Amino acid sequence: MRSSGPYSRTKRANLPSLSRILTCLLLPLLTISPGALLYLLSQPSTSNTSRSFSGDLRDAEFSWNSLPLPFDKPAPTSLRIAVFSRKWPVLSAPGGMERHALTLHSFLSRRGHRIHVFTAAAPVSEKYDISSEYLKIHALKGRPNQWQCEEAWELYEAENRIEPFDVVHSESVAMHHRFASRVPNLAVSWHGIASEALQSGIYQDLIRSPDMDPALNRSLSMAVFKVINEIRFFKNYEHHIATSDSVGEILRDIYQVPERRVHVILNGVDEEKFGLDDELGNGFRSEIGIPEDAKIVMGIAGRLVRDKGHPLVYAAFKKLITTHSNVYLIIAGRGPWEQRYNGLGPNVITLGALPPSRLKAFYNAIDIFVHPTLRPQGLDQTLIESMLCGTPIMATRLPSIKGSLLVNKEFGFMFPPNVEALGAVMEAAVAEGRRRLEERGRKCREYARGRLTATKMAMAHERLFLCIKNESYCMYPLGFD
Ligand SMILES: *[C@@H]1O[C@H](CO)[C@@H](O)[C@H](O)[C@H]1NC(C)=O
Ligand SMILES: *[C@@H]1O[C@H](CO)[C@@H](O)[C@H](O)[C@H]1NC(C)=O
Repeated sequence: MRSSGPYSRTKRANLPSLSRILTCLLLPLLTISPGALLYLLSQPSTSNTSRSFSGDLRDAEFSWNSLPLPFDKPAPTSLRIAVFSRKWPVLSAPGGMERHALTLHSFLSRRGHRIHVFTAAAPVSEKYDISSEYLKIHALKGRPNQWQCEEAWELYEAENRIEPFDVVHSESVAMHHRFASRVPNLAVSWHGIASEALQSGIYQDLIRSPDMDPALNRSLSMAVFKVINEIRFFKNYEHHIATSDSVGEILRDIYQVPERRVHVILNGVDEEKFGLDDELGNGFRSEIGIPEDAKIVMGIAGRLVRDKGHPLVYAAFKKLITTHSNVYLIIAGRGPWEQRYNGLGPNVITLGALPPSRLKAFYNAIDIFVHPTLRPQGLDQTLIESMLCGTPIMATRLPSIKGSLLVNKEFGFMFPPNVEALGAVMEAAVAEGRRRLEERGRKCREYARGRLTATKMAMAHERLFLCIKNESYCMYPLGFD
């Protein structure tokens, strides 16, 4: 499907002048052709909301997650889907970046779509996590975790000759742009792009020292070249899936990808695994030794490294507890900053890396989730997990977070990445107290359940893939919606 017909784009570009002429001449609406009238009436459909949307979904700028798609009805047709992913989760460690692909394609395979995954060889003595007979893994022959796009391409072509795929899905640049230009039914998901990395470089440099670090200076200028390079090769990919609203905007406004080839589908998290459970949370609190009368418990999860913003939390929390003795910070994760946190005394509890099964208890145990990342790369899973568990968030003011998660001030707090600003929102949260934070958490959960669940994410992909197979599915709503 070539979705970006020049016809509709020209039409839109001419609209303002058309309506101005009409108004000037005071011509009655009667003289406009029915097609133009319909077009004028359908204008609100390109706004930022899905409420009462109807029309061609390729014109939508809002995230497809928010469409009420019928997950309880069978798919209108079964798709044959090829997936290019450098890695695939193994049974012993089903975490990491590729979790997105596993969640998505397991869901689609359960809906009867036939998924073929092309990925690197599994690590020695490991097996891939396969949950369905509809999901087949084609592992490369080479060394474990070694991705070779050429080899994957050959395997794909052999499979495509047996029966052509309806859709090809690439996780980031797993399918190299050299091959991408040959695949008209390709959709690529971007989990972080160079323009975001440029911003993260700026933030990291700012917290490092007052002087420009020469090494960072070099990597910052490299980042600019990477942006330019991406703008050049992104056009080889037919369909672009932006995993946050802000990346959608960047692709349209800076990367010059035609709007009808950019589709926003936010990441989603398995709502069966992350949900509200007060009892579980309270049990976790007493288990790790949080006193009953604790005023506020803040939590952090992830790798404890500098570019996740730990120098900021360390300094801000250290100051906070000089005036609030019964505020706590619990930390799930490993990394160089663990030891420093341990030096902060009894108000900080480090838990090491938590297994996925314990994360739900962790989110339910805390009053607010702190996410000071300096790396705006993709849409962070942990924030979504927290929101689904009914825990409000305190996060760096980044376009992806502001545009897709903290879209309402009720959902928590945002801060520019510096110690003073983080300290101020920490003070504000403490002053509010638990009851108010709980109320914010309820609103987070409501929002997340309407948009950020694995079901919402997967149904949005299904619809996009259907639309790539046959344009008639691009219209919304259809009989089965
Ligand atoms: C950083 O790069 C700029 C531009 O290339 C240059 O003018 C400046 O001297 C560099 N600074 C350092 C500390 O390397
Ligand atoms: C697309 O779907 C419509 C409606 O189901 C069908 O009539 C049409 O033949 C399909 N087109 C192609 C190219 O498969």
